Amino acid sequence: KKVVLAYSGGLDTSIILKWLQTEYGCEVVTFTADLGQGEELEPARRKAEQMGATAIYIEDLREEFVRDFVFPMFRANAVYEGLYLLGTSIARPLISKRLVEIAEAEGADAVAHGATGKGNDQVRFELAAYALNPDIKVIAPWREWDLTSRTKLLDFAEKNQIPIAKDKRGEAPFSVDANLLHTSSEGKVLEDPAQEAPDYVYQRTVNPEDAPDTPQFVEIGFERGDAVSIDGTAMSPAALLGRLNELGGAHGIGRLDLVEGRFVGMKSRGIYETPGGTILLEAHRGIEQITLDRGQAHLKDELMPRYAELIYNGFWFSPEREMLQAAIDHSQQHVTGTVRLKLFKGQASTVGRWSDHSLYSEAHVTFEDDAGAYDQKDAAGFIQLNALRLKLLAARKRRLGR
Ligand code: ARG
Ligand code: SIN
Repeated sequence: KKVVLAYSGGLDTSIILKWLQTEYGCEVVTFTADLGQGEELEPARRKAEQMGATAIYIEDLREEFVRDFVFPMFRANAVYEGLYLLGTSIARPLISKRLVEIAEAEGADAVAHGATGKGNDQVRFELAAYALNPDIKVIAPWREWDLTSRTKLLDFAEKNQIPIAKDKRGEAPFSVDANLLHTSSEGKVLEDPAQEAPDYVYQRTVNPEDAPDTPQFVEIGFERGDAVSIDGTAMSPAALLGRLNELGGAHGIGRLDLVEGRFVGMKSRGIYETPGGTILLEAHRGIEQITLDRGQAHLKDELMPRYAELIYNGFWFSPEREMLQAAIDHSQQHVTGTVRLKLFKGQASTVGRWSDHSLYSEAHVTFEDDAGAYDQKDAAGFIQLNALRLKLLAARKRRLGR
């Protein structure tokens, strides 16, 4: 039996690696992805070697992640429950895709992940895996093993010579998931949603109160809905998001303290930092303001919560997500141009936007003489016909008193 494990190199997935070998009697192939989490991956290789992994895959997926997952999602301006930019949700389908591909290449019949049985991530990993390979088996040790407390986990690690970092001796203070799009922190010290998160939770943004007292301006160029340049310099998707993360982090942009509804039913409280993504969302909305028709824009905004929920719930590889994506992508045909933003103390604000594809017509909207571009008299009939129903309703109300 052979299984491909999504392996971070951390304590928990190292315990899983060993557990799969000893309790399940499987050969374990490890897969570690660089999604821009900002951690060295060589230690993961060394640990996997030490623990006798059958094969070790370490891959830099940053460009694919941003180009094929983050950017398509940002074309939709997707936010879950009004606020969450889906930084963890959007990374899971890519990890599953590679797990399944590696399983096929290695002749493994199962994949394994380190998500708990209480969360969204198990659902996302597994729905994606089954959507890509209906015969794949999934092992989720957290749902199966009897290592139900930190003490039992640490005892198991000790017994199996798994190195435990000194700070891991006690409880980890909270659970973190990071990639190029965001850092999310949940659990432990964050579990009481009435209590403000301690400042040490934040890892990639300065406190807006400590951000520079002078604003910084940045120009983002878009082509067909995707950001392609910063201040006139063309950049790859991952490089661009990385640069926006630096800018946003320095200005305290993209912090979020949210209680959200998990797919499995309970609510959870999380602290999110999405510095570059928050700038990108604002900029994308800025360029859509002048390049999208109102009908397109409003329909997009109606579809967006559905689309965001599909991603949150793990249905990236579903026909309905693909249908919505096709409509969203189609709408981006003219979303080309430049947005100028001001970054200042936790805020990214659009202060200018221009495009050869703009629908904005100063000739029509001007408060000055429009030289016949628009006949104000046309508005009278427009209003009268729109008012007809309202007048009939008002007349009935007068007649009946309700
Ligand atoms: N609640 C977020 C989501 O479902 C993040 C989950 C993972 N985060 C973590 N700190 N373990 O997308
Ligand atoms: C986990 O349960 O592994 C993390 C939280 C989540 O998936 O929602």
